[in-house]
Amino acid sequence: TKPYIFITRSLPEEIVTPFQEKFNVKMWDSEEQPVDREVLLEEAGKADALITVLSDQVDEELLSRGRQLKVVANLAVGFDNIDIKTAEKNGITITNTPDVLTETTADLTFSLLMATARRLIEANEYVRKGDWENWAPLLMAGHDIHHKTIGIVGMGRIGEAVAHRARGFHMNVLYHNRSRKKEAEEKLGAVYKSFDELVTQADFVVCLAPLTPETKGMFHKEVFKKMKSSAIFVNTSRGDNANEDDLYQALVEGDIAGAGLDVFENEPISKDHPLLSLQQVVALPHIGSASVETRKAMMNLCLENVQLVLDEQEPKTKVTS
Ligand code: GLV
Ligand code: GLV
Repeated sequence: TKPYIFITRSLPEEIVTPFQEKFNVKMWDSEEQPVDREVLLEEAGKADALITVLSDQVDEELLSRGRQLKVVANLAVGFDNIDIKTAEKNGITITNTPDVLTETTADLTFSLLMATARRLIEANEYVRKGDWENWAPLLMAGHDIHHKTIGIVGMGRIGEAVAHRARGFHMNVLYHNRSRKKEAEEKLGAVYKSFDELVTQADFVVCLAPLTPETKGMFHKEVFKKMKSSAIFVNTSRGDNANEDDLYQALVEGDIAGAGLDVFENEPISKDHPLLSLQQVVALPHIGSASVETRKAMMNLCLENVQLVLDEQEPKTKVTS
């Protein structure tokens, strides 16, 4: 019998069809609604492979159900939803989707920075509401981007791609990372700073660090207080890297000037979320890698990784603890 792959969201037929000759592929029937936990646990007990998304908790309970489970391919570069250590202990390979989403996510990060600084969303609503009656000298005046200082926290592939864009805007590029990135310093003119120096000096503080026990809540009250009162905070990594209550307070009290957020502590957020009451916040529904081309490339990479593992070969992009 053919190996069985369960996918926790509905993916386009054209992506899945080429794999159906070799595999028995079943998909959760909704593109938007998450798979029921009970269904996922049951499927994990039957499947040779799972393709999961970032809202699926691949924890000890799930991994211990997997009697014949060999691989979990996560449709994301981040894998904080997966208990990697337990997977390794149980001999289950975990893969993610780095590289294919780097430039697309950097595009979105820079767009969000610009939209927040130049108040694009607010200005668009103003025009649509019919409020535009006159030209005024400071109408929708925002903050400059060019020649300002950007501070990138988490200088991985996406961080470097954002730095590259920032150079094009003649920005001064600072970064903070667990380890020094000498080649980024040489290639991009990025300057390494301690976390404290970076948040104190940057006009734009951009978080691109993966969520780990060390980064969780790293942007908190005292950190926002250290930032310039004109600073804009941009987060396109994971919401849990910032304390959201503290961020809200910092914006209300004027410790910082604005925030561009693609990620939140508890996603999805409702329209009553306190941050949405603030004009200086631009909020997006976690769409960093969401171009049609890139999402299809991510889906293909997941399926290729699954196929490689089930054929007892090395997957392209394996995650290790
Ligand atoms: C999205 O957040 C990802 O990790 O790819
Ligand atoms: C992290 O993995 C990144 O691509 O920045």
